[in-house]
Amino acid sequence: MKRIIGLFVTLCLAALLCGCSKPAEKQTDDSEPGIANGSKVDLDAIMDSVKKIIENDFKPQLGIVLGSGLNALADEVEVVQMIAYEEIPGFPQSTVTGHNGRYILGNLEGVPVIMMDGRIHFYEGYTMEEVVTPVRVMAKLGVKAIITSNAVGSLRAEYPVGSLVCIEDHIASFVPDVLIGPHDSSLGERFVGMDNIYDSALRKTAHKAADKLGIHLLDGIYLQVTGPSYESKAESAMYASLGADIVGMSTACEAIALKQMNMKLLSISCITDYCPNVNNSSSTTHEEVLKNAEKVSQEFVALIKEIVKSVGENLPH
Ligand code: HPA
Repeated sequence: MKRIIGLFVTLCLAALLCGCSKPAEKQTDDSEPGIANGSKVDLDAIMDSVKKIIENDFKPQLGIVLGSGLNALADEVEVVQMIAYEEIPGFPQSTVTGHNGRYILGNLEGVPVIMMDGRIHFYEGYTMEEVVTPVRVMAKLGVKAIITSNAVGSLRAEYPVGSLVCIEDHIASFVPDVLIGPHDSSLGERFVGMDNIYDSALRKTAHKAADKLGIHLLDGIYLQVTGPSYESKAESAMYASLGADIVGMSTACEAIALKQMNMKLLSISCITDYCPNVNNSSSTTHEEVLKNAEKVSQEFVALIKEIVKSVGENLPH
């Protein structure tokens, strides 16, 4: 059985590494100056544009990424400026329902934040480098920490739909490593250690905030798949047997990119559905995911606000 699983994993990785992804829309020309060989993203040019677009020298201290169906947090921000991804030349565009495709700059619980209201996913056809560009931009703007969120499927009955999970570690072996490709030393080291990816101090802060609000916050291992197909029963059983508790189509690749930049990261997942190994069906739909994310939304918003408040209190002034 172990040999069969090993063979399957090897075949998955080989297929992924052979480059099964084509960009949904080619944004830049590889031959343009400033773009490293083989790279599709000119991060320096994007940073120049973003810095020019940001008004009044606004300096975000905290970055936040809103997952599928979790946009309600955007309503809590005292907005200073919105920047549509379309306004930024060479920036990837969000193509998924439930993802608006803009940065929101403003204050949340008195903390200057930059919020990604719209994520870019590998399954949209973008390269991993394009997928993580929006979080790299937030890190390069000088935020002190980033909180990401996501909708996930549950691989275990002990992780019920409607729960919030604090990610303690991840399995990213089923997606291409985002650090493959030309090395940009301005981002960090070529070979990056993956200890404490999800910052232990921030996880403690999250649990304290949850306790204060009476929210039951689970801890769990997140496994990233490419999507967009949901897991089969056999795949779900395999992921659970590998030690994963929850599964999603984002987050781990962003976490690796941010770890390279030495960014402190906290990730909170909302469980929106059971994978077929738990509920014995494979009827997950994107509508179900969005609907169930919305149901947890109030708790999610309260928790993130409480975390932001306490992170804000500990930021250097
Ligand atoms: N699988 C993968 N990604 C997901 C799921 C799921 O069941 N639910 C929400 N995102």
